[in-house]
Amino acid sequence: MSIPFFSLDLNSSEILKVFQSVILPFNKHNSKKKLTQILEERFKNKNISLLPSARIGFYLTLKNLFKEGDELIFSSMSFPLYVKIANQLNLKVRLVDVNIEDLNINYELIEQNINSNTKGIVATHLFGNPCEIDKIKKICEKYKLKLIEDCAQSFDSFHKGIETGNFGDVAIFSTSLLKIPTTLSGGILVTNNVDLNYKVDSWIEKNLNKANIIYDVKLLIKVFLSILNSIPWIYSIISDKIFKTLNNHNPRIYRKILYSGMGMEEIVYNPLERNDLKKYQIEIGIKQIKKNKRMTEKRISHSHFLNKGLFDEQNIRLINCNSNSKGNYQYYVIEVKKNAKNFFNNIFKNGIHVMEEDVWDCTNYGFKIENPNDNFEQTKKSNPNLIRIQNNSYLNKKLINKILLEIKKNLNETGKF
Ligand SMILES: Cc1ncc(COP(=O)(O)O)c(C=O)c1O
Repeated sequence: MSIPFFSLDLNSSEILKVFQSVILPFNKHNSKKKLTQILEERFKNKNISLLPSARIGFYLTLKNLFKEGDELIFSSMSFPLYVKIANQLNLKVRLVDVNIEDLNINYELIEQNINSNTKGIVATHLFGNPCEIDKIKKICEKYKLKLIEDCAQSFDSFHKGIETGNFGDVAIFSTSLLKIPTTLSGGILVTNNVDLNYKVDSWIEKNLNKANIIYDVKLLIKVFLSILNSIPWIYSIISDKIFKTLNNHNPRIYRKILYSGMGMEEIVYNPLERNDLKKYQIEIGIKQIKKNKRMTEKRISHSHFLNKGLFDEQNIRLINCNSNSKGNYQYYVIEVKKNAKNFFNNIFKNGIHVMEEDVWDCTNYGFKIENPNDNFEQTKKSNPNLIRIQNNSYLNKKLINKILLEIKKNLNETGKF
């Protein structure tokens, strides 16, 4: 049996709820209020906006907090579309290299990159591992910079006991199909800026509530296929063979399909690309957040098991959280030191559909950056060799063990090339 890359981990009552609220989409306002209240309790003293994607939250944040010519600091391993959006809004972008341990921005390199144009820092908690966000916050206070946390992967991750999302002026979580918690595409903006919260909510209300039946049907089909595909035995029957054939034909295609959500296909980002959340998406979000602790604990336990089993493998490097943080292991990523591509192809053929994760180096996309001649040594060293391994709460001990054994077997075989 093949192991699919992701799982929505929805139980039958949740799936039923999706279909119920598809058929009865009324009182969306009440569902929205309920989810907002849950999040307000979680992020005390913050204002919450529910979004149809994290990227629209990021776009509206940049549009409202900065003006053309302002400069922003990003980690060189950030979500590429975010750098593209900054370029599109005529903001200047300066990239700062990462720490080798966790591949998050190296805070020690930040101050030397600040100049009179610098107005903000975008701090990404990559793979769910918090960056040194308290130190970055101090730098922001010293230079009067706005701090934006990219929490797309870090719901339920903590730095010095405080959940990510509580440090920045703005924090944006993604609740897309592949994220945890999910609203089957969506996002959450958390801010102490009342004016921004109001502007984001009003913009969405005004611009993203137009009836669009084609969009709605497409979203439903995508959700339906994703639910089916995340169940291993159904995946084995339907998608496994398709993905294997596609992958044999063109190894990049599998990644292209799963990463189509990165928004890099279009030339410019279109803020009107998605409609506001549907009632069924909000209802799923409520359920997901309620069971989030259990899901995180399960992922952490899988990750510890994998870490223990892979600890002494010579050909890989484990990506670890900094010692002040507790990551949520939303992504379990390893660096395969030698022959990463061979490793990927072999393990994929054997039914473990891992993913090449070499998409984070923001110097690779032809963006306009202010410091193109910097060498970004750690980014260049790690990014090409990253592989993302399945890790979700739907997997049981037996499947995780199967993944571990296949990784070990393939690492041995890869070493022979
Ligand atoms: C680090 C990071 N930032 C931002 C995003 C954008 O999230 P969304 O797809 O909800 O716009 C993603 C999505 O994969 C991400 O991984």
